[in-house]
This record gives sequence, C-alpha cells and structure tokens, in this order.
Amino acid sequence: GPTVAVALPAAGRGTRFGGEVRKAYAELHGVPLWRRSLTLFTSLPQVVRVVLVVAADDVTRFTTENLALLDAENRDGVRVIVTAGGAERVDSVANGIARCGDADLIAVHDAARPLATREDLEAVFAEAAASGAALLCTPIASTVKRVRDGRVVETVPRGDLWAAQTPQVARADLMRRAFAQRIDDDRPPATDEAELLERAGIPVRVVRGSARNFKITTPDDYALADALLRSDVG
Ligand code: CTP
Ligand code: MG
Repeated sequence: GPTVAVALPAAGRGTRFGGEVRKAYAELHGVPLWRRSLTLFTSLPQVVRVVLVVAADDVTRFTTENLALLDAENRDGVRVIVTAGGAERVDSVANGIARCGDADLIAVHDAARPLATREDLEAVFAEAAASGAALLCTPIASTVKRVRDGRVVETVPRGDLWAAQTPQVARADLMRRAFAQRIDDDRPPATDEAELLERAGIPVRVVRGSARNFKITTPDDYALADALLRSDVG
C-alpha cells in the first residue's frame, strides 16, 4: 500500500499549558508527549519516515539528549529525523514537510495529541490514499454561540460543524502544492493543513475521529489524558 511520511510539530511554546518545560517535553506516565506521539507512528507498517519538529533554539540539545531514544525508533524501515520549527505552527509544519522525502502520503500530526488510536490513524491514511486528502474530525457536541463584546449575537446551527483534529493527510504532491501556494496568499494565515488544501482547491474528506484524540492545550487537558491512560492500564 501507499507509504506515509509524518511531520510531527512539537515546537510550540505551550503558553496555555504553562509550566517549566515546553509542553512537548511534559511527561505523561513517564513518557514525554513528543515520544508518545512519535511511537504512534513508528509502530505502523506504512510509515517510512517521521520528522519531529522541535523549537529551533533547542534542536542540538534535544537531539543530543535523546539520541538513544531516537535511535531506538529508527528501525524496521522507519527513519526518524529532527528538524527546527518556526514562529507559527504552519511554519513548523512547512519545515517538517520539507524533510518528508518521497513517501506517497504526507501526514501532519500535533505532538500535543498523544492519544490518537491506531484505528483512527489507519482510517485517515486509507481515506487520503483513496481520495487525495483527509483529516480526522469530531462533530461539535456543544451548542455554539457567536459572541461580540460579551454578548450573544446568534446561536450557530451546529448540524454541519465539525472540530478539526490531526492527522491531516494528503497525497504528497497535493500537500506540497498547498504549502507552495501559501506564500502567494494575502488572507489571514491558515490555521491548519486542511485550510491550505481547501484554498488550493483540493477537496478534503472528513474521517470521524475518536474523542480521545483531543489536543493537550491546558493543564486540565493534561489531567484528563493522565486519567485516561490510568484507566487504560487499570
Ligand atoms: N507548534 C509548533 N510550532 C509552533 C507552534 C505550535 O510546532 N510555532 C506545535 C505544538 O508544539 C503542538 C501543535 O503545534 O504540538 C499544536 O499547537 P498548540 O496546541 O497551540 O501548542 P502550542 O503552540 O505549544 O501552545 P500555545 O498555543 O498554548 O502556546
Ligand atoms: Mg499554539
């Protein structure tokens, strides 16, 4: 089947997360988020490469300190590469994609989503292989309000609203085309890969993802992930 290269952005500041260490280095049951997210992919047979994108000022220290761990993932036809991130997530992803090599598909996954399931990953890879581009999404569960100046302007019908997750996956040529067009665009910056694909006129399919694949953004999210892992084991 088609081969997959994964760009794994882990270069954010983690401002909403707070804390002493960068969010990607925070440990969940003794394993840092970046490593949990990395091993989600290195254990899949179709994955041939993972590009871990870390903060630009930390590439040397990170690589040196984690040489053994990174090397341990570098096996069975999987190559793990570390590269430098940029100012915004999209810049980090662009740097990651630039190192993705010649796999058939490129997948982008937030290192801050360490609990994606194997089933969801297989499903979104399969959909992207079949139709060109796909991402995991969950239907919005809450009633959604449009708010200005602290006042509700309207209640937005949520029947066709979905929340984007990652992985966001596309045929490598389509993903590269979408990123190449980014610089020519004077709209506000796209916030995910799917939006760049949409702007490039590339149809994007949705695969319903598990709620477990939430992004660890705040300390409460971290506590929830910790509890989920405990209940998995117990
Ligand atoms: N990310 C990145 N490079 C950036 C910004 C974000 O690689 N310049 C990564 C984060 O490390 C994370 C993912 O993109 O894995 C999703 O971003 P987010 O959850 O917003 O993480 P942070 O940007 O680190 O957090 P915050 O926005 O609270 O500062
Ligand atoms: Mg951010």
